[in-house]
Amino acid sequence: MDEHPVESGIPLRRSAKVLAVVAFVVAVGTVMAVEPLRAHTAPPVADMPAGIKVPLGIPADVVAAMIPVDNPMTPQKIELGRELFFDKRLSDDRTVSCATCHDPAIALTTADPVSIGIRNQKTARNAPTVFNSMFNELQFWDGRAVSLEEQSKGPLTNPLEMGMKDHDAVVARVKSITEYAPKFTAVFGSEGITIDTVAKAIAAFERTQLSGNAPFDRFMAGDAVAISASAKRGWDLFNGKARCISCHAWNPSSPFFTDYKFHNVGVAAKDRNFTALAREALRVLQSNKNLEATLDELALREGTSELGRFLITRQPRDIGAFKTPTLRDIELTAPYFHNGSEKTLLDAVNFYDKGGEPNPNLDGGIRKLSLTDAEKADLVEFLKTLTSDDVRGAMLNQKPQTREPAR
Ligand code: HEC
Ligand code: HEC
Repeated sequence: MDEHPVESGIPLRRSAKVLAVVAFVVAVGTVMAVEPLRAHTAPPVADMPAGIKVPLGIPADVVAAMIPVDNPMTPQKIELGRELFFDKRLSDDRTVSCATCHDPAIALTTADPVSIGIRNQKTARNAPTVFNSMFNELQFWDGRAVSLEEQSKGPLTNPLEMGMKDHDAVVARVKSITEYAPKFTAVFGSEGITIDTVAKAIAAFERTQLSGNAPFDRFMAGDAVAISASAKRGWDLFNGKARCISCHAWNPSSPFFTDYKFHNVGVAAKDRNFTALAREALRVLQSNKNLEATLDELALREGTSELGRFLITRQPRDIGAFKTPTLRDIELTAPYFHNGSEKTLLDAVNFYDKGGEPNPNLDGGIRKLSLTDAEKADLVEFLKTLTSDDVRGAMLNQKPQTREPAR
């Protein structure tokens, strides 16, 4: 059903892992074939620090396998990462933290169609949730970061987001906050405060932000009445007539409703002169020394943002293609799409029903669906069963973040 060529952007760590498994099987498979393979390939689940519960519907062995060996999770590191994530002093004018845009009161997103950074500057993209982001094969709507560690370095210095001059300035700022030095020493020893240790601590915290235990998970675990008859019809449509499953993939070992691939469903296609935008982006990219920072700026800037995956691959077929997002907690994270252009779930369903937005790069999987009003309502009911009880519950105990400057 997916008429895309295979993505070239498979992150190294995954392919390396697969190769290691293959090598292992070849090397010892005949000798110790009775041993379960998993015991040798994934670190033991006990590596998850105490106090972190893997929720129903999320396989614990997948969680364990996704924790990088060079950034093990410890309670102290997680706590340090949590403090950094909520610390507005990491932004140029001390008004914006990671949590400003990934607010626990709104399922680690905001209600703004596009994110707003320091000095009320508008970016061109909607903030995705951080829940389950540890499972993303690539980070960002266009996949320009290969890990959570790499991802977290972007917003700190993006001029529209937290606006620090460069990573040295971030390190200097963290060093100027006296309470951090002993904490970094306790967690990272003599390495102390560097941009990499800042990123590692934040990523370790993010890996504790898991979302499962939704009515759908209980339904799949055998509780036949966990979701309504309407939602069950919606799940059938999701798998059938509505064709959603072809990109929003679900299976027990990757239960996140995404194929982690990039598709042009037409959201970016309205009123855009892609040829001119692509030419401008290529000119800027070719003339610039700091490729990473330049990419990050182009990605969040009105106009070039809409090029999507093209900015990274420079393949014309990737123009207007964005990463398939998870649909977990989707009821809580309106508005929708990479630019926040659809207000409600029904609006998003209507967008698909009409066959997206025609454009030369429209994904082959997108076509007119001719759903009835009742079918659309069933699909929306189904999408609402993907809301985690834990995430919804935690939201009720949170005050929204403010932009009052930190002292
Ligand atoms: C001004 C708002 C803003 C701030 C501040 C911000 N983010 Fe984001 N975040 C966004 C937006 C918008 C995106 C999507 C950008 C893109 O795809 O190009 C994003 C993407 C992400 C992603 C990728 C999720 C995915 O599904 O691909 C993660 C993880 C993340 N942010 C974590 C952080 C961390 C950690 C910080 C602090 C160091 C932070 N963010 C600061 C708005 C913000
Ligand atoms: C061809 C692949 C594909 C198919 C088929 C598909 N989607 Fe998507 N979906 C995507 C991509 C890619 C995005 C992000 C697009 C963007 O923002 O430019 C997305 C975004 C969404 C969003 C917004 C998520 C968010 O966090 O903002 C919702 C809701 C959604 N899809 C639901 C559905 C439903 C329901 C169906 C079936 C009717 C469906 N999708 C079919 C690929 C697909």
